[in-house]
Amino acid sequence: MKLTEELRKSLRITVDYTNMTDKYLGKNGISKKTLEAHKQLARAAHGYVSENRGKDELFMGWTELPYNQTEIVADILATAKDIRRKFEYFVVLGIGGSALGPIMAFNALCHLHYNDLPKSKRKGPKFYVEDNVDPVRMKELLDVIDVKKTCFNVISKSGATSETMTQYLIIADLLQKAGENVKDHVVFTTDASRGNLVKISKELGGVKSFVLGDGVGGRFSELSPVGLLPAAVLGIDIKLLLKGAAYMDKLCKTPDLKKNPALISATLQFIAMKSGKNIGVMMPYSDNLKYLADWYAQLWAESLGKNVHLDGQPCNEGQTPVKSLGVTDQHSQVQLYTEGPFDKVVTFLSVGSYKEKSPIPHGCEDIPDVAFLGGHTMEELIQAENKATAFALTKAGRLNYTVNVPEINAFTLGELLYYFELQTAYAGAMLNIDTFNQPGVEAGKKATFALLGKPGYAEQKKALDGAAPDPAYIV
Ligand code: PA5
Repeated sequence: MKLTEELRKSLRITVDYTNMTDKYLGKNGISKKTLEAHKQLARAAHGYVSENRGKDELFMGWTELPYNQTEIVADILATAKDIRRKFEYFVVLGIGGSALGPIMAFNALCHLHYNDLPKSKRKGPKFYVEDNVDPVRMKELLDVIDVKKTCFNVISKSGATSETMTQYLIIADLLQKAGENVKDHVVFTTDASRGNLVKISKELGGVKSFVLGDGVGGRFSELSPVGLLPAAVLGIDIKLLLKGAAYMDKLCKTPDLKKNPALISATLQFIAMKSGKNIGVMMPYSDNLKYLADWYAQLWAESLGKNVHLDGQPCNEGQTPVKSLGVTDQHSQVQLYTEGPFDKVVTFLSVGSYKEKSPIPHGCEDIPDVAFLGGHTMEELIQAENKATAFALTKAGRLNYTVNVPEINAFTLGELLYYFELQTAYAGAMLNIDTFNQPGVEAGKKATFALLGKPGYAEQKKALDGAAPDPAYIV
């Protein structure tokens, strides 16, 4: 794709917040005065993010990923080519920020039934992301792949995550038992020097590895080798993905709320949160964007759900992200969104042009209830339902806004990722919390170590054993 300025503009993602305003929503909407009153806070948040961009010590290294990976991208492309040539299966072993991005990009940019396509129609090996330690899932993955023909991309910044390391132990054992050299079947994506994967790589005699930079946390890592290697293996244009991110970065350089899409979204969400909208529903009208809502849920939840402000004052910040899919969930959740508690903001992701239109043939002419559909396309239908749902929510006085995605491709996905990352960073700054840590996740990881007898966790094990269920409360 040759990216002229005109083409970039035509692929530009926009935010339509008409239905957040009191002009269209009535008393439940946000007034001009309220927005005006938050201008300074928004400006300060923008200033904080701009001044600290790229700073590893603040975990802001992700802001520079669209610009500082020329050599890494070349290495990734060469490695991906090699993997495509050698292997029939590519399996990502990772969890959380080390898995949600690869799942999301795969779903967004590949055929929705990619693994079922014949080899000649796929751009790469069959693709799986194993982000759980459900024993059944592990066994059943092994039923459909042949480890001898598989490349495993072990992604873990710490190399200490029990789930990922368990999976690694299982596949390393299987590979050895199958007479294979483990080193030939794994690629590591991990920290530069710390962590167990670095040690394992040395023990195996130097595994092909990619680095997840110090300043890039898991949930901000999709544009790093965490996401880029799996994407490249799938034949996704990773340079275009990074160009889309850079374009969004450019659009968000301004602190002007009227011009910066990520800043206006963060500010509206902040105002909504502070007025009791504790639930943020993301509703893409596209199966390709279904897992973007999963990826975003982690980004938003783990970044903003905090119990201490930067000045040390206790708090309980955050907004619960809910994943919803248009139109599917119109038939399950929208009733609640329209008539239930006033505790939500709905973000629609609307697609301007789907890659398929799927015309609806004429038929059932004697049944007007059905016949009216003939002659339209499924694209028209899904877009009409999207518009109708936004209209119904607005009529019911429910906050909602729309992120317009002209079409789904690597460029617009790059825009979307960077847009949501910036929105999260701005919102975190407005909430005055540390957006980039995750003490709550670490606590769970440590408790698991203790329960499974990791050395150094004996005290915690005692405490956990003491917290056994009380039979008096078991029915
Ligand atoms: O966003 C995060 O930091 C977490 O979700 C991590 O990505 C997740 O816990 C996995 O950690 P690691 O990459 O160290 O295995």
